[in-house]
Amino acid sequence: MQGRSIISVRDFSRDEIQQIIDIALRVSRGEWAGALRDKVLATLFFEPSTRTRLSFEGAMVAMGGRVIGFADASVSSTKKGESLSDTIKTVTGYCDVIVMRHTIEGSARLASEVASVPVINAGDGANQHPTQTFLDLVTIQQEFGRIDGLRVGMLGDLKYGRTVHSLALALSQFDVKLTFVAPASLRMPESTIEEIAGRGTAYVELSEIGDIDEPLDVLYVTRIQKERFGDFQEYERVAGAYRIDQDVIGSLGDQVRIMHPLPRVDEISEQVDSSPHAIYFRQAHNGIPTRQALLGLVTGAIP
Ligand code: NCD
Repeated sequence: MQGRSIISVRDFSRDEIQQIIDIALRVSRGEWAGALRDKVLATLFFEPSTRTRLSFEGAMVAMGGRVIGFADASVSSTKKGESLSDTIKTVTGYCDVIVMRHTIEGSARLASEVASVPVINAGDGANQHPTQTFLDLVTIQQEFGRIDGLRVGMLGDLKYGRTVHSLALALSQFDVKLTFVAPASLRMPESTIEEIAGRGTAYVELSEIGDIDEPLDVLYVTRIQKERFGDFQEYERVAGAYRIDQDVIGSLGDQVRIMHPLPRVDEISEQVDSSPHAIYFRQAHNGIPTRQALLGLVTGAIP
């Protein structure tokens, strides 16, 4: 994978996804310590972030590398009117790998076309968030020892949530059953549903948590992506539509594990945090080994 950009999960075969998961698990056991020595990561965040940016930076530092970048585009030359491609052509000369988050769908692909170093997409608008998916899959593999055979539900804003777009597409490479639960206005995009169905993946679409009538192994909860609504009234109509609490978990069965890419707004009660069903903070912590694996692979530090 040396020199390769990570833009969309669509660019990865099932074998490649499995290889990344396996390497991340080996990294978490201490393999390749110090492998990113002498490497420089540039983090370009045009949109807010806590976990993605800090875990990329933490991953780099933990493996001996260094980090430059900005967490707020208003302090970059974008503010002066510089184009994204000029910014990328410049930064490409300062680093070995770029991690970028941007509001515009397709921006990461564009950046990878003008950069001479690998570009890792840390989220492009409502489109894709591939590295979140890799850490989600690492978490699932750790928890269940496998991905095949699992029943995975996704709940919340399936229209604007890039994490669920990436996760659903990646999971459709495995033998899983998917349950999508969203208000009618926030359903999974038709094009994504078609891709998933085209791979023969079994799925159902529901609008209420109470409609889930089969046990789930994973319920992946997402927040309503307020910043992506053009119309505030449309947001108000769906805000607070779902809330996971102990009663809901009880109705989903003892086997269920609750995941969430975070940040949470109000869709999971804080009382759930201490439940053995809640694995979302462990999931967030898997950002470090997963991103270590990805940085190592694309820079060639992990062969
Ligand atoms: C997600 C994102 O930015 O898409 N956050 C993350 O990276 N963990 C989810 C979200 O913002 O809701």
